[in-house]
Amino acid sequence: MMGRQFSTYEYNQLLKYNLDPHNYLDTNAPIEYITGFAEFKGKSFAVNKHTLIPRVETEELVNIAVKSTSGNDTSFVDIGTGSGAIGISFALELKNLNKRFSGVLSDISAYALKVAKTNLNNLLFESNIQLVKSDLFVNIPKQKFDVIFANLPYIPSARIASLEDSVKNFEPITALDGGSDGLEIIRKFLSQAIDYVKLDGKIFMEVDDTHTAATEFENSWAIEILNDSNKKNRFWICRPVKH
Ligand SMILES: C[S@@+](CC[C@H](N)C(=O)[O-])C[C@H]1O[C@@H](n2cnc3c(N)ncnc32)[C@H](O)[C@@H]1O
Repeated sequence: MMGRQFSTYEYNQLLKYNLDPHNYLDTNAPIEYITGFAEFKGKSFAVNKHTLIPRVETEELVNIAVKSTSGNDTSFVDIGTGSGAIGISFALELKNLNKRFSGVLSDISAYALKVAKTNLNNLLFESNIQLVKSDLFVNIPKQKFDVIFANLPYIPSARIASLEDSVKNFEPITALDGGSDGLEIIRKFLSQAIDYVKLDGKIFMEVDDTHTAATEFENSWAIEILNDSNKKNRFWICRPVKH
């Protein structure tokens, strides 16, 4: 049997972590789960089977948020933080710009939060970031945030079976499955988020490329829909509607 063919990137990642490629020829696991690390915005984030592997498209969500953050003391929460890639990268960017911040990283999975904690300690060492295990906003401290991030599960359930094997056989289903139309968790999230965002605050969300209309939310939210770098519908920037 030939076994697995590694790409140059995969091969180099194995060598970087002192792993012998010959020992991994019979697994189809994503390279990030083999090495235990994923690259995101130039940093190595610990990942494991309890966390999604942060995607390169998601880097753009952080960039959009940094560009639109003007204040000198920004409060943020990252709901469904997984490895912590979004929230930690946002904080790192603000820190590099000499801006102050306070943040919360939250996930429904205690196992994912443990990984986020490792990344927080390795990459940021900030004490003004809290880790909170929570189903959406249930355990989030009652306050209004400037910025809310949410890259929640958004894949319509019926499409899970047709995802690539490397995704559906290895990544946690609780990070992927967004219910019948992919918006079930997002709908709950947006109905709760209105109590946690400042009037001039914003929500930065990642959605499925089929989520091209947000009319059902327009009573509460003004939503700008943006493409990712592959020209696929990908981000919703939501501002509360002033009644
Ligand atoms: C698509 S992954 C995104 C992970 C990370 N934000 C990223 O961009 O790499 C979705 C995350 O949402 C979490 N999640 C799912 N349902 C949730 C809920 N009801 N409340 C909070 N987090 C939830 C999952 O555990 C998972 O870590």
